[in-house]
Amino acid sequence: MSYRVGILTLSDKGARGEREDRSGPAIAEMMEQAGYEVVYRRLMSDELEPMKKELARVCDENVCDLLLTTGGTGFSLRDQTPEATLAVAERHAPGIAEGMRYSSLQITPHAMLSRGVSVLRGQTLIVNLPGSVKAVRENLRFILPCLSHGLGILTGRESECGTPKEDHHTGEER
Ligand code: MTE
Repeated sequence: MSYRVGILTLSDKGARGEREDRSGPAIAEMMEQAGYEVVYRRLMSDELEPMKKELARVCDENVCDLLLTTGGTGFSLRDQTPEATLAVAERHAPGIAEGMRYSSLQITPHAMLSRGVSVLRGQTLIVNLPGSVKAVRENLRFILPCLSHGLGILTGRESECGTPKEDHHTGEER
């Protein structure tokens, strides 16, 4: 059974109908290709309180195993996605955001400007992706290799890291 993914686009211009959401569809396409089932898609403005409410609702109603947000991670005063995400976090999972910035820095120094975070609430993993299609594609490519194992542990489908005999990274026996 595939993991369920939700996609939340945060964009004032998108919500006003002034800009087409191209990042949400790009995420959906990549995740479906990777074998995930897209069960939820929504576009919202960058308003903090509604964003917090929606993030918490999606997790608490167990709508999806993985909730990917796009947009609102930069330095503009309206960029508040990390704040909304941290406000609903029950546990922090910083490695995913660290990994995205580390890998993205090999491509552009602008990677330092994304304030995106990765957290857990209940049995949902929330990951903030930047807003542009380019950044979304690059960041997803970096994190996809670790996601299914993390979601397996989070949802209880995988109980031990050592279960598959091979090392996840090198493919070597441990
Ligand atoms: N990460 C990757 N891999 N590729 C990119 O092009 N763009 C950066 C950064 N992360 C980028 C990236 C830029 S220019 C910004 S301003 C921040 O993400 C925040 O983007 P956001 O405000 O659209 O969320």
